[in-house]
Amino acid sequence: MTASFTGAAQGIDARISVQGITKTFDLGGEQFVALDNVSLDIADNEFVTVVGPSGCGKSTLMNLLAGLDEPTSGKAVVDGKVVTGPGPDRGVIFQQYALFPWLTVRKNVEFGLKTAGLGAKKRREKAEHFIEMVGLSEFADALPKMLSGGMKQRCAIARAYAVDPTILLMDEPFGALDALTRVKLQEQLLDTWSQDKRTVVFITHDVDEAVFLANRVVVMAARPGRIFDIVDVDLPYPRTEEMRLSPEFTALRNRVWHSVYHQNTGTSAVSTPSILTA
Ligand SMILES: Nc1ncnc2c1ncn2[C@@H]1O[C@H](COP(=O)(O)OP(=O)(O)OP(=O)(O)O)[C@@H](O)[C@H]1O
Ligand SMILES: [Mg+2]
Repeated sequence: MTASFTGAAQGIDARISVQGITKTFDLGGEQFVALDNVSLDIADNEFVTVVGPSGCGKSTLMNLLAGLDEPTSGKAVVDGKVVTGPGPDRGVIFQQYALFPWLTVRKNVEFGLKTAGLGAKKRREKAEHFIEMVGLSEFADALPKMLSGGMKQRCAIARAYAVDPTILLMDEPFGALDALTRVKLQEQLLDTWSQDKRTVVFITHDVDEAVFLANRVVVMAARPGRIFDIVDVDLPYPRTEEMRLSPEFTALRNRVWHSVYHQNTGTSAVSTPSILTA
């Protein structure tokens, strides 16, 4: 899959197609351009990470894909249909764990299944499967307050997976975690994804994380929010700890790092990047 930076015609086999999206916000009468003509195709079962400086529109883009907000112009297309609101095809995982504190791990995971109309036995079976997949079986009857941050986030991942979304939209899900837990969860997320492939859009501030997880890293720039660079990560899965130390990984990481932190030097892969004004 290739991405268009210009809003040109998109591939027909894209699961997600962002087509020339511009999003402006009214800031006391002034129009603030949060996203400027952003186009991107994401293939089925692809794992795409989005990285970029604060305020470049990452969460805005995710909200549009989730159907929680509308573009000012352009459109987001999922499975050939224009996104007009949230749907069970898209599971969203926010940085805040967003678990129901009064429900156990099991009941949290079962929650969406109940809404989807599944009977008690089926709910239980499904929840069991996904709780096991994220390694929380021992804590199935625990309340969120009894879990560590990483365990809560694994519970949120199990809950999102359980309702069987074709797409997982994750906005800095590991942002608040310590480095060790973060690395463990990255590996666990990839394990889960390898067992049960989904199309994943994963937002992060962390360049290592972006490269470690992705098939492709989308680098965004701010003012206006736009795609600045796209880096293919040609490393095989499973991704291992040793791989993080390999010259190939280091080279990719450096390339992404440069794209994120030296956006005003004009060295991105994009042919005509806008020069940052601030
Ligand atoms: N509802 C809103 N009203 C006005 N401005 C907004 C609104 N939502 C976002 N913005 C602005 O749009 C820009 C992009 O915001 P967004 O939250 O998408 O950035 P981000 O890339 O997710 O940043 P961060 O990495 O800090 O989470 C910011 O300048 C922000 O102030
Ligand atoms: Mg954000």
